[in-house]
Formats: sequence, C-alpha cells, structure tokens
Amino acid sequence: MAARLHPAPDRQQEIVDLRCLSASDLASLLEEECRAWRTELEWDFEKSADLVRRFVDMNALNGSALLEHGQVAGYVYYVLEEDKGLIGDLYVRRELRTAERENLLIASALEPVMNAPGVTRIESQLMMIGYDPARPVPSAGCLSVFERNFMRIDLKHAVLGKGNVRRPMYVEKWSDHYHDAAAQLIAAAYSGHIDGRINDQYRTSDGARRFLHNIVQYPGCGLFYRPASVVAFEAVSGRLCGLSLASLVTAETGHLTQICVSPTVRGTGIGHELMRQSLVTLREMGCTSASLTVTAANEDAVALYQRVGFETIRRFPALVWEGF
Ligand SMILES: CC(C)(COP(=O)(O)OP(=O)(O)OC[C@H]1O[C@@H](n2cnc3c(N)ncnc32)[C@H](O)[C@@H]1OP(=O)(O)O)[C@@H](O)C(=O)NCCC(=O)NCCS
Repeated sequence: MAARLHPAPDRQQEIVDLRCLSASDLASLLEEECRAWRTELEWDFEKSADLVRRFVDMNALNGSALLEHGQVAGYVYYVLEEDKGLIGDLYVRRELRTAERENLLIASALEPVMNAPGVTRIESQLMMIGYDPARPVPSAGCLSVFERNFMRIDLKHAVLGKGNVRRPMYVEKWSDHYHDAAAQLIAAAYSGHIDGRINDQYRTSDGARRFLHNIVQYPGCGLFYRPASVVAFEAVSGRLCGLSLASLVTAETGHLTQICVSPTVRGTGIGHELMRQSLVTLREMGCTSASLTVTAANEDAVALYQRVGFETIRRFPALVWEGF
C-alpha cells in the first residue's frame, strides 16, 4: 500500500476521496477489474484503467474509494460535463461485492454531483453491477433505473444469412463526411425513444454529434472500427437512412456501438442488413465474437438481435437522475 494512503485500520468501512489516493493504491483493484472485463465481457479495459491511473496520480479524478480495514474494496469515479454528471465506472472486488457496498459508492458519487452548481442531470451505465429489480438504490425516490442487456454473438458459428430488404437502398462504409447527416438520423431515430431518457445526447442533433465524436475519437466504447461501420442511403433520394457502427473491444472482439434506422423506412429489413454487414466484416477481419448493449424494454431491437444470434449474457443497470 502506497505511503499516501493513510487508512485507519481499525475503521471497518471508510469512504475516502480519490484525491487522497495514488494509482498504486488502486493497482490490484484495477488489475482485478481488467481481468473481470476480459473474462466476463471479452472486453479489454486496460486503456480505460490507464486513464484512471493517470488521472488519479494527477489528483484530477472526481470520485471515491471504499476502504475496508485499510484496503481498497471498491471505487467509483465521475466526470462533470457542463450541466451533466457521468458516473464513469464503479467496481467492487468480487470477494467483497454486495449491493450495500456498491450503494455506498453510488451514494458517494451522487451526492456531490447532485449538489454541484448547474448540474441538472446524472447518467451512468454500470456494466460491472448486476441488475436486480428488487435491489435498493440510494436516492431511490429521484433516481430512474433502466434494465440494459449486454448481448454477445459467437461469430465462429453465426449463420449471418442475407435477409430480405424491401426498400431500394445502397450501403457505404462510414466516412467522417457523414457525421452531420448521421447525427440528424440519430436524433430522428430516437425521438420519443426510451434510450433518449438514458442518454440525452440522442435527443438532439447537437447531442448526437457529440455522441458520434466520442465514439469515433475516444476509446470508451472500444476503438472505432471503420471497415465494419456502414451507413445506408435511400436509392431514390440519396438520403442517409440507417447506420451500424462498430468498434473493437479486443483484437478478436467487435462491439456494435450504434444501430439505428430512420422511422420512415423502419421494418423494411435495412437494420438487419446493416448489422449483418458489420458482423460479416468483423468476422472476415478475424473477430470471433461481437457484443452490443440494448435497453431490455426495446423489445423490437432485442428480438432482432436474438434472431441474428445474439444472446444476453449480462443484465446491468443504467441510472438516471434529473434535477430541475
Ligand atoms: C432497431 C432498429 C435499428 C431496427 O431496424 P429496422 O430497419 O427497423 O429493422 P428491420 O426492418 O431489419 O427489422 C428486423 C425485423 O424485425 C421486424 N420488425 C421491425 N420492426 C418491427 C415491429 N415494430 N414489429 C414487428 N416486427 C418488426 C422486421 O419485419 C424484420 O423482420 P424480418 O427481417 O423477418 O423481415 C430500428 O427499429 C431503430 O432504429 N430503432 C430505434 C433506434 C434503436 O432502438 N436502435 C437500437 C438501439 S440498441
């Protein structure tokens, strides 16, 4: 344990500010977390863990750690973006994992963000926490909890047969030129959609532009993978009407970061075809599996993914707080 950690060994549980710790204090916790992401979700978490280590050592990461008898049992961090707080990660050691400990950490992040000047919203998708509808959450009266599925397909055995596209259209690989049209498509596709309650970037073209920028530039959802990212255009108007974007979360695992189709051409086989093309390319490029996340209540999408061959391997919560 590094010298800067001054726990009170007699104190059973203690929440401490991450700024009191150094990366070496979190080393074994983050190592365990990286192993968990790899074995449970086939996801390389190393780059995200590196960012955590770097920012903790710069005393620049908001969040806290749960100490038990002087040892780090878990941690949470959050970032503030204008009027929004994002809980970026929460992890409790497997051997100590309980809803009570996780809730201590959730509460330790919620409280300062709710009280931060100008913050009106908190979002978080906590993939290392299990979803249980009966589970109590801190600030339950003002927190919405959404069930999300982590789904995976085995690309070695998937059939990926062509469907029947019932609308004249053509498909192109992703190009950054499509950024603005894609942002408009996302805002239209998610108008009134439950996912707009979970991620408010889906609600406007400006928000969707930031969402796309994050996906393409930053490694949070894996490394953006252009060859398997495709967009569809209506044949007659040339209007962009659908997209399926992919990233790599390990060298052998793809992740579909976004799929959507314009409401005007929905149900004509375009979503299925775009997804199929992304998956076929991922397989051709050596991926043995692919994953995606979907809101459980988005039943049409879940049904489409199941028909293609995806299976839900984890349920996790998305937490949303909306202030005034
Ligand atoms: C999910 C989504 C991408 C699917 O795209 P799509 O182009 O409508 O999908 P498809 O037409 O390929 O539909 C796949 C199948 O579901 C069927 N289907 C589509 N919508 C349906 C509906 N509302 N009810 C019943 N069946 C439906 C289609 O007939 C098709 O069946 P088939 O392949 O056997 O003919 C699209 O609905 C969408 O953009 N939704 C909003 C954004 C969203 O939820 N994205 C996913 C987030 S994880």
